Amino acid sequence: MEVVIVPGPGEAGALVGDAIAGVLAARPAAVLGLATGSSPLAVYRDLARRHAAGELSFAAARAFLLDEYIGLPAGDARGYRRFIADNLERLVDFAPGAVRGPDVGASDLVAACTAYEEAIAAAGGVDLQLLGIGTDGHIGFNEPGSSLASRTRIKTLTDQTRRDNARFFASLEEVPRHVVTQGVGTILDASHVVLLAFGGAKAAAVARAVEGPVTAMVPGSALQLHPHATVVVDEAAAASLTLADYYRETWRHKPPWQGL
Ligand code: F6R
Repeated sequence: MEVVIVPGPGEAGALVGDAIAGVLAARPAAVLGLATGSSPLAVYRDLARRHAAGELSFAAARAFLLDEYIGLPAGDARGYRRFIADNLERLVDFAPGAVRGPDVGASDLVAACTAYEEAIAAAGGVDLQLLGIGTDGHIGFNEPGSSLASRTRIKTLTDQTRRDNARFFASLEEVPRHVVTQGVGTILDASHVVLLAFGGAKAAAVARAVEGPVTAMVPGSALQLHPHATVVVDEAAAASLTLADYYRETWRHKPPWQGL
């Protein structure tokens, strides 16, 4: 696992934007894995800027969302499909239908989860998966106790996650309890996983995921099993990392041609 400590989200956005531009340059029909929430916003801003400057096209690319709330009306501003539409899809040139999220409106949700897995596989798998991490260590919405081999399925959010996400809703009561999320096993199938975390509230979860034991109690720790996992954090989110100096030293001396 590579840990890169950056001054802030802007630098992270540029760094991860470079990596995504590299993936799209090598394979214009690449498949991207998209996270929602605050952590990937700087990356989406960077990608939109590159597209506006004529440097980057998503015309042949496809994308799959990590997760979605169950129970919000279709197109609801707090839904994750809408978040991605507003913060990336509408700002670049994805072809119609190229960006997909779990079909939480399906009458048979279990079948919809299987269909989502099949769609990712049929697209050839995810080339680069963006992730955030919850304060309880979740990736996607795989809450503590999630099987490290799990696939796309229905999950119940912890109270902690509902409280963390209440900032997007008028009240805590409005935050849905249920979601569909890619599983930990689904996430680990991506060729490259890039986790972003900023701020002191994430420091404990980042340290447990990166340096703690691999355990279902910290789903983010499963990234230790991935051969190409990158963790991009600011100083505050890196504050509890035992090997922070080593990560800085390693990054400082990394040959630029290697990229992320
Ligand atoms: C979002 C997702 C979640 C978030 C995590 C952190 O699609 O899967 O795992 O990445 O809850 O959220 P933020 O970035 O808002 O702190």
